[in-house]
Amino acid sequence: MPAPDLDTIANLSKRRGFVFPASEIYGGLRSSWDYGPLGAELLRNLREAWWSAMVRERDDIVGIDSAIIQARQVWVTSGHEANFTDPLVECTNCNHRFRLDKLDDPERCPDCGEHKSFTEPKAFNLMLKTFLGPVEDDAAVAYLRPETAQGIFINYENVRRTARMRLPFGVAQIGKSFRNEITPGQFVFRTREFEQMEMEFFCRPEEAEGWHRHWLDARIQWYVDLGMHPDRIRLRAHEPEELAHYAAATSDVEYLFPWGWDELEGIANRTDFDLKAHSDASGVDLRYYDQDADERFYPYVIEPAAGVTRSAFAFLIDAYEEDEIGGEKRVVLRLHPRLAPIKVAVLPLSKKDELVAVTNEVAASLRKYWMIEVDVTQSIGRRYRRQDEIGTPYCVTVDFDTLEDHAVTVRDRDTTEQVRLPIADLVDHLIGRLGPV
Ligand code: GAP
Repeated sequence: MPAPDLDTIANLSKRRGFVFPASEIYGGLRSSWDYGPLGAELLRNLREAWWSAMVRERDDIVGIDSAIIQARQVWVTSGHEANFTDPLVECTNCNHRFRLDKLDDPERCPDCGEHKSFTEPKAFNLMLKTFLGPVEDDAAVAYLRPETAQGIFINYENVRRTARMRLPFGVAQIGKSFRNEITPGQFVFRTREFEQMEMEFFCRPEEAEGWHRHWLDARIQWYVDLGMHPDRIRLRAHEPEELAHYAAATSDVEYLFPWGWDELEGIANRTDFDLKAHSDASGVDLRYYDQDADERFYPYVIEPAAGVTRSAFAFLIDAYEEDEIGGEKRVVLRLHPRLAPIKVAVLPLSKKDELVAVTNEVAASLRKYWMIEVDVTQSIGRRYRRQDEIGTPYCVTVDFDTLEDHAVTVRDRDTTEQVRLPIADLVDHLIGRLGPV
C-alpha cells in the first residue's frame, strides 16, 4: 500500500490522542505541537530504542544530559551566531516570507503566484534568543540551544576523564532543541521546538572515514530493525554547497514522506572543528593524549543526529495501512511492538461485573510489565478496530468461558489470528511475542 497522505496521519494523530496542536484552545501555534497520551508513549519508546542501541548495548558510548541554555560564547565559538542562517525572502506583493532554498520555483511566490516579486535573500539566524536575568541588554543575551551536540563538545573533557573513555568513544544525548524556522510546517516535520537524539563519536582523524561508513550503515539498520519499510528509506550524500559550516562530509538518512524524500537524520563528519574551536576560544586544551604513541591531537567526530519527533512522525506514516477483515475495511498501525504505545489491550466480552472483575485481575498482572489498556465500552469488533488503529499488537479477550476454564483469547493485530490459553500462561506467552521485559 502506498504511504498515506499528510491529512490522514494528522487526523488520526489528533482523533486518537497522539498529537494535538499546541495552544489549541487559543487557535493553535503552527510551529509546535503537544503529544497526547499515545504520542507521549511513542516518543518514550523511541527514545528508549535509540538509547538502548546507542548507549546501553555498547561499551564505547556513554550518555549525558546537558543544559538547554549555555553561555552565549558556546554559540559564538561553534559558529552558530555567525553562520546558523537560512536565506529569507519576502514577497513584495503579499508580504509573506519564505525560505529561498525550499521553494519549488525560486522566482514565483507560492502564496499569491506573483512572478519575480521576492526581495534579495537575507541571512536569517535560526537561534531563538532570550535574556538571562532582569535586564534585557546585550550582556544578558542567551540562546535556546539549536542542537544538543554543543552540550557534548563542551563536556568532552569532563566525560572523557570521569568515565575513563579511550578513543574511539562516543557521547550521546537526547533532548529538546529550538530553531526559529522561517517556514515550520508539514505537521510535526519542521517545528520551532523539537527533540533530538545525537551522538558524537570521537576517533583518530585517520579513522574518521571508516567510522563515518560504519555509522551510516548502523543508523539505516536501526530504522529497518524497528520495522521501517526498507524501500522507503535511503542515504543521500550532501553536495558540497549544502554542507553545514562545521562538516567535511554529511549524508542524510532520508524517508519517503508523503511529499517526497526528505531528511530523517543527518550523519556528519564534523572533523575536529568543534573541539579545536572550543579549545582556542576557552583556552582549555581539549586535545586527546595517546599514551602509547605519546602524542596529543584533536579527535575527529562522526555525528549521527536524529530527531525524536521527526522519527516518530515517520514511523507513524510508515506503519499506517488500510486493509479488509471479513469484508470490512480497517485502519491498522503496524507499529513495531517496541514502539507501540499500548502493548496489550484487555477486553471483557461484556460489561457484566463478573467479567470485569476477571478483566481487572488479568490487567493488573500485565501492568507490571507493559503499558496496557482496559476497554469495556462498545462492541468487541469496534474495540478491536480501535486497538488496531492505535497499533496495539495484542488484544486479550475475557469471555464467559473464562469464568469456567480460566483461559483467555489472544488476538494478533497483524494477522487477526486468535489463540486460547490459560491465564496462568499469559505473561510468558506475551513475553515470547513482545520480547523480554
Ligand atoms: N547537530 C547536528 C544537527 O543538529 P541537523 O541535521 O540540523 O543536524 C538533526 O538536525 C536532526 O534533527 C534532523 O535530521 C531532524 O530529524 C531533526 N530536526 C532538525 N530541525 C528540526 C525541526 N525544525 N523540526 C523537527 N526536527 C528537526
